Amino acid sequence: MRSELCRKLGIEFPLFAFSHCRDVVAEVTNAGGMGVLGAVGHTPETLEIEMRWIDDKVKGRPYGVDLLVPNKMEAKEGGVSASELEARVPPEHKRYVEDLLKRHGVDTAGLWEERFTNAAGENMREEGAARLLDVAFAHPIGLIVNALGVPPPAMFERARRKGVPVGALTGAREHAIKHAQAGVDILIVAGTEAGGHCGEVSTLVLIPEVLDAMRDFPEVKVLAAGGIATGRQMAACMAMGADGVWTGSVWLTTAEAETTPTVKQKMLAATSRDTVRSRSRTGKYTRQLRSPWTDAWGIEGAPDPLPMPLQGLVSKRALARVDKLAESGHAGAKALATYYVGQAVGLMNAEQSTRSVVYDFMRDYAEAVERLSGTLDV
Ligand SMILES: Cc1cc2nc3c(=O)[nH]c(=O)nc-3n(C[C@H](O)[C@H](O)[C@H](O)COP(=O)(O)O)c2cc1C
Repeated sequence: MRSELCRKLGIEFPLFAFSHCRDVVAEVTNAGGMGVLGAVGHTPETLEIEMRWIDDKVKGRPYGVDLLVPNKMEAKEGGVSASELEARVPPEHKRYVEDLLKRHGVDTAGLWEERFTNAAGENMREEGAARLLDVAFAHPIGLIVNALGVPPPAMFERARRKGVPVGALTGAREHAIKHAQAGVDILIVAGTEAGGHCGEVSTLVLIPEVLDAMRDFPEVKVLAAGGIATGRQMAACMAMGADGVWTGSVWLTTAEAETTPTVKQKMLAATSRDTVRSRSRTGKYTRQLRSPWTDAWGIEGAPDPLPMPLQGLVSKRALARVDKLAESGHAGAKALATYYVGQAVGLMNAEQSTRSVVYDFMRDYAEAVERLSGTLDV
C-alpha cells in the first residue's frame, strides 16, 4: 500500500491490532499489519517471556507494546502499599459484590484473600511502568503506546533513544491536543463504540474533529479506532483522513484469542446493542458486554463504582471467579460473565483465524476503495 505511515513503520497495511494474546500479535504482524501487545497485566518476567516468544515468531517484523499509565488515579504518585489501598475499599462494595455473586449461586468464600498480578495497579504508576518499559525496549519493538493519559517521561526518553515512535490513545479532542503538544507521534483516536476504556463521542464525529485540530501538528499521524471490524470501515476512516486504523474487539473471537469459551460464545451471539459503557470494572468508563454484573452497578441504590484502581480490587477477583466457574457450566456464572468489547461485537458472528481476519480486511478495504473511486464522473 502507498502510505507514509506504512513506510515509516515498515509494515504493509496500516491495520493495528491491540491484543493481550501473543498469538494474535504475531499473526497480525506476520500478515502485514502491526500487532500491539497489551502489557499492563504482566510482571516484567512474564512480559519478557511473551516478547521472546513473539520475537521468535515475527522474525524481525515490527510489533508494538501498549502500557496503561493514567494521568489521574487514586494514589497515582505511589508510596501506598497494596494492603493500604485494599483498606480504602469500603466494606459496602465488597458486600454488594458478595450478594450479587451469591444471588447467582457463586460461592464467595475466600474471595478477598485471592491474589492477582498487578495488584492495585503498580504497572499503572510510573515506577511500575518503567520496569515494563525496560523489558519492552530490550526487544526490537516498532511502536510503544500509552493509554489513559499523556505518555510518561520514561516512555518518551527510552523511545527517543531507540528511535521508536510513541503512540497515545485518546477519546476526546482536548486530550488529543495535549498529546500532540507533549510530542506524541501517533494518535489513536477511539470513539465511544470502542471496547475497553472509551469516551462519549462516536468515531464518525471524533476522527474529523481531531484531524481538524491536528492541522497545527502536521507531523502527527492519526489512527482511527472504535467500532472497526471490517475493511470497508477502515476505508471510511481513511477517506476521512486517518492514516490507518487501530482495532481491539475484532480479535477477541478469533481462533487464537485467549477469550474464555463462555465469553467468546456470548460475543458471537451478541448484537451491537449488547454492550454497555460502565464504570463497574476499572472505575473509569469501559465498554463491555452487558450482563447482570454490569446491570447491577447501574441500578438505583447500587454503590457508586470506586475510583481506579480501587474498583479493580473489587471486580477482578469476583470476575475471575465467575469466569472460572462459568467454564464448568455453572449457569449463574455463565450469566454474569462479561468482558471488554465494543459495539463491533455485532459484526463478529463467526470464529475465524486471525490471519483470515487480516486478509478479509485487505480484500474488503480494496473493494471499498474501488467502489468509492467508481463514484467519480471523470
Ligand atoms: C479486551 C480489551 C482490552 C483492552 N485493554 C486495553 C489496554 O490494556 N490498553 C489500551 O491501550 N487499550 C485497551 N483496549 C482498547 C483498545 O486498545 C482499542 O482502543 C479498542 O479496542 C478499539 O475499539 P474496538 O474495540 O471497537 O476495536 C482494550 C480493548 C479491549 C476490547
